[in-house]
Order: sequence, then C-alpha cells, then structure tokens
Amino acid sequence: MPSQRSFGVDAISLSVPRGYVELADLATARGVPAAKYVEGLGVTRMAVAAAYEDPVALAANAARRLFATSGRAPSEIGLCIVGSETAVDHSKPIAAWVHRLVGLPATCRSYETKHACFGATAGVLTALDWLASGAARGRSALVVATDIARYGVASPGEPTQGAGAVAILLSENPRLVDLEVGASGSFTRDVDDFWRPLHSKDAIVDGHYSVTCYLDALTGAYTAWRALGAGEQGALDRCCYHVPYGKMARKAHRHRLALDADHEAVVDESALDVSFRREVASSLVLPALVGNIYTGSLWLALASLLHVESEIIDGARVGLFSYGSGCTAEFFAGRVVPGAGAFARLLGLTAPIEARAPLTVAQYETIRRADGAVDRSEVGTMIPPDDGRVAFLGVDNDRRVYRA
Ligand code: HMG
Repeated sequence: MPSQRSFGVDAISLSVPRGYVELADLATARGVPAAKYVEGLGVTRMAVAAAYEDPVALAANAARRLFATSGRAPSEIGLCIVGSETAVDHSKPIAAWVHRLVGLPATCRSYETKHACFGATAGVLTALDWLASGAARGRSALVVATDIARYGVASPGEPTQGAGAVAILLSENPRLVDLEVGASGSFTRDVDDFWRPLHSKDAIVDGHYSVTCYLDALTGAYTAWRALGAGEQGALDRCCYHVPYGKMARKAHRHRLALDADHEAVVDESALDVSFRREVASSLVLPALVGNIYTGSLWLALASLLHVESEIIDGARVGLFSYGSGCTAEFFAGRVVPGAGAFARLLGLTAPIEARAPLTVAQYETIRRADGAVDRSEVGTMIPPDDGRVAFLGVDNDRRVYRA
C-alpha cells in the first residue's frame, strides 16, 4: 500500500515593528481603567510600525528570517502568496517586492490575496491544494501574512491595533503541523462590519456588530466542518482562533462549545474556564504582546501555541478558525507532527518580539500624525536604524524604494 502523503506547515517565522505601546499607558492617556484594555480586551501591548516598517518591509523581514532559521532555501519555493489588507499599491502586489528582497526563483508563481483577515489563510489553503495536486513537483510554498492594523486615534478600536508579519513555509512531509487537506468548512456572507475605504488608511468598524458577525461566521464554518465528518476524525486537543484581541478568542471558544453542546446554557463559566485554559490560552500569549495583525493573527496564534507548549504539543490535533470581515471564514484542522515542539524551539519564534523597545503614547501619536504623508515621502527623508533589516526608504518618482 502506498504510504499516506502529508502536507502542511513546515516552518514559521515572525517579524514585528521595533516599537510597542503598553496598553496600560494608552488607557491612562485615554482616561479609561487599564483593566478595560488588559483584562477586558485581553491585550497587554500593541505593536506600532514606524514609517519605514511598511507591510513590504515587515513581510520581507519575516520571510528572510524564515529561511535563516528553518534550514530551507529560497531556491526551493515554487509558489509565493502574500496575504494583506494593507496594500501599498492598487496593482503591484507586495509579493513582487518580497520575491526580489528574499531572492526567490524567477520560475516561482507569486501574487497577493485579499479578503480582510482571511487573506493569508486563503493563501495557505491554495498552497495546500497546489502541493497535494502534484503541481509543486517537489517544491514548497511560501505564504506571508503582513498588515498594519489601524483605527482612529482615541476610537474604541484603537487598543485593538497592532502590526506584523508571519511567514509560513508549506511543504510535503511538514515538520510542524500536518494540515487536513480538503476538509475545510467555509462560510461567506456580505456584511458591513469592518472595511478600509480607499480614501482612508484607518479601518472603519461597527465594533459590536463585528463581534456578532465573527460569531455567526464561526457557527457557519464550524457547522460546515462538522458536516464533513471531520469532527469524528478525533477530538480537537487545542483550538486557534483569529485573534483581533484575546477576549474575542474566549468568546469564540465559548460559542464553539455551545455549538458542540447544541445549547448556549450548557456552557457554564467554570467549565469554560477549564476548557479555555487547556485548549486556547497558550495561543494567546504572543498575540497579547503584539495586538491584531489582521491576516497574520491566526498564524501568530499557532506560533504562540507551538512556542508556549513546545514540551507537550507533539501529536495534538489543533482546530484552526480564520475570519475575515466582510465576511468569510473557514474552520479546518491539523495535527502537530512528532518532533515539532523541539523544532519550534530551534526556530526562536519570539526573538523579534523580545528585541523591541517601548514607545510613549506621545511618540506613537507622532508616528500616527506623520503617517498620511509617508507613501509620498521622497527617498532620503527617512533614516531607518542601520540593523540590516529591510526598510522602506521612500519614493523616487512614485516608485517605492527599499533598503535590501
Ligand atoms: P468598546 O465598546 O470600547 O469596549 O470596544 P466594551 O465596552 O465592549 O468593553 C470591552 C470588554 O472590556 C467588555 O468585555 C467589557 O465588559 C470589558 P466583554 O463584555 O466583551 O466580555 N471591560 C472591563 N473589564 C475589566 N475592567 C474594566 C472594564 N471595562 C470594560 N474596567 C470593541 C470594544 C471590540 C468593539 C472595539 O475595541 C473595536 O471596535 N475593535 C475593533 C473591531 C474588532 O476587533 N472586532 C472583532 C471581531 S471582527 C474581526 O475579528 C475582524 C478584524 O480582525 C478585521 C478583519 O477581518 O480584517 C477586526
């Protein structure tokens, strides 16, 4: 009998801006109790991107780190998809710059995908089909999620901002998570819960409605996934949800348990607490330090789970829920492969988060005030730190220029 072929996440890597704001400081500046942001929303710090840390630079730095830490080479890549909802151009995809800055082969197919926070998951699912179809011919896929989450200064969405990129290598015989190809539950509905109109860098959001839309989409996607019989392939030991803020993942978990129990009232708080701490909490450790990174949020949650539970996570079946406002969602699952925990430790997933420095609220507000003009600043007006990372240098005759 031919052996079962497996496809999934072979390696993962992060890139975050150099600066962050303590949400307790932001709460003080906005005149609200720190507990509202830290406990009420479940976020401790929010990453703040400087002008030279645009979505291209974040994506390229995450991808470079992926190859530097995983033992894999850019020459092995046949498909590169960048998921983002922070486009820097209507036509030219972030993938084109990433392709050059990372040194991918000319024979590599590359493009950008968009559906709010779902964009990178769309890339992952496409890459899986590409691998499983045989079109990969031994090559691997690189998917990069990159975004800067922005709401109005002093708006309710402000404490749920963040910025960062996650690079994901997908291959046959993966070393981290074997994903269940073809067994995904989908849900789509046209709603106006959150959007980023072309005239505004900041998102417009109907905050409380967006929570309802997220939970409705979870109902749809999870029910579709169960209808495939995927729920009967084994219990889910852990679940990673899209994390706009940690508390949302707790709401999602409560909702999923209620769907399993077929009745909301069956989920009492103490049972939820135990289940949440065992199945979800470790996936929220890194998101709480970075904030919402839109397309990368689910994948940052997976990185967090692998990092925090590296001693015990091998063999666990993990549910994955991706939500993109607007809206679309998918629920799917995968199994952590033997040895993945030890490999995750070698990847040094948290190093970019540990290398950051705090910003004051005043420094963050200065960055926000200048942000409107950044995409038109001439090369030479921005001086990024000289630390070898890819950086946006400004425009030359409307062409974006990057320090490689
Ligand atoms: P708000 O209305 O200012 O906050 O903004 P609130 O009054 O709802 O309070 C938030 C929580 O803090 C509540 O907990 C309060 O009880 C608690 P909950 O009832 O939800 O469990 N609280 C406190 N806790 C401790 N001590 C206190 C205290 N005070 C209050 N003193 C909102 C909240 C999420 C609406 C806002 O931040 C927002 O609009 N965020 C952006 C939208 C968002 O993240 N939506 C999530 C679902 S949609 C999604 O995930 C897609 C997205 O990622 C985009 C994409 O797909 O591209 C956003």
